[in-house]
Amino acid sequence: MAELSVKYMGLNLKNPIIAGSSGLTHSIADLQRMEKSGVAAVVMKSLFEEQIYLDADYQQQKASKSRLIYLQHSETFDYIDTHIRNEYVSDYVQTIREAKKKLHIPVIASINCISASSWTSFVAKLQDAGADAIELNIAVQPFNPALSAADIEQLHLDIIHKVRSMTNVPVAVKISPYFADLSRVIDNIAATGVNGIVLFNRFFSPDINIDNMQIVAANMFSTPAELSNSLRWIAVKSDLVPCDLCASTGVHSGRDVIKILLAGGAATQIVSTIYNNGLDWVAVMLNDLETWMAGKGYNYIDQFAGKMNGFETDAPASYERMQFMKYYSQVE
Ligand SMILES: Cc1cc2nc3c(=O)[nH]c(=O)nc-3n(C[C@H](O)[C@H](O)[C@H](O)COP(=O)(O)O)c2cc1C
Repeated sequence: MAELSVKYMGLNLKNPIIAGSSGLTHSIADLQRMEKSGVAAVVMKSLFEEQIYLDADYQQQKASKSRLIYLQHSETFDYIDTHIRNEYVSDYVQTIREAKKKLHIPVIASINCISASSWTSFVAKLQDAGADAIELNIAVQPFNPALSAADIEQLHLDIIHKVRSMTNVPVAVKISPYFADLSRVIDNIAATGVNGIVLFNRFFSPDINIDNMQIVAANMFSTPAELSNSLRWIAVKSDLVPCDLCASTGVHSGRDVIKILLAGGAATQIVSTIYNNGLDWVAVMLNDLETWMAGKGYNYIDQFAGKMNGFETDAPASYERMQFMKYYSQVE
């Protein structure tokens, strides 16, 4: 039987499939279900920096309407602000603590963040609670014309440096595919000393229901066709960056996991395929990986990891964008 273990950010994983951050990794019961399905690690549902601040604002507004609180007493609001943040975060920290008692696989905490401000002080609490790693889901969107591409990149680097200085546990950064200069951004993020980069986050997409004139969510789940962007960037960068690369978006089958490993990815994260196919699908994916390895005569993942990355393959340009133009120019 093939040995499926891999190392991701220094963590020993029994196989290369991680349950990605989502509604499937929210509560202790969710995390236990994930472990039972056979995944090698879980990334918890993100703790949202924005939500922490919104909660604090809401509580402050409520408090400001109270006749019991003297309106100019800003210390009171400071207290509420800090208290609410701590409350919100302590639920999350408690879930990590409990998960570490009940699960045998690595538990990766996730923070959705947009700034390097005061929330970063909570990172130490995640570490103290036993999180095996922290995934920063950096979600600075390019909608603000006052923020240039360079500003957005700098925000990412500031967040990473701040978090890196606050913790010793491995840190991964999950990024958006929407950068003006993605290649350089990946290089610069890798150079910060992060242990992993997750390629890529997949965001809420809007649609319009023309019958009731409402804005609705479009395509909440990915399709297998979406794998190619993660595959391309992992293939192009895996040999060049000093950290692990992990695929997210479009990993739907055992075959997709094999492709990412061949491209040089250290591991894969799955979400949509579990929503679509249920928890038993993880065993099918692992079985497909094992069967393929047996057919090729591989006993260990190291024997084929990175074999098809941009430098090992004899057709590295196939992974680069220009090749699309050539392809279309050849199609009648
Ligand atoms: C319902 C749902 C909730 C999600 N919540 C989070 C989240 O809290 N944090 C995060 O980093 N990604 C979140 N994601 C994104 C997933 O982790 C993943 O990056 C994305 O779904 C692409 O992977 P997939 O193709 O396997 O679905 C969520 C995705 C879905 C569908």
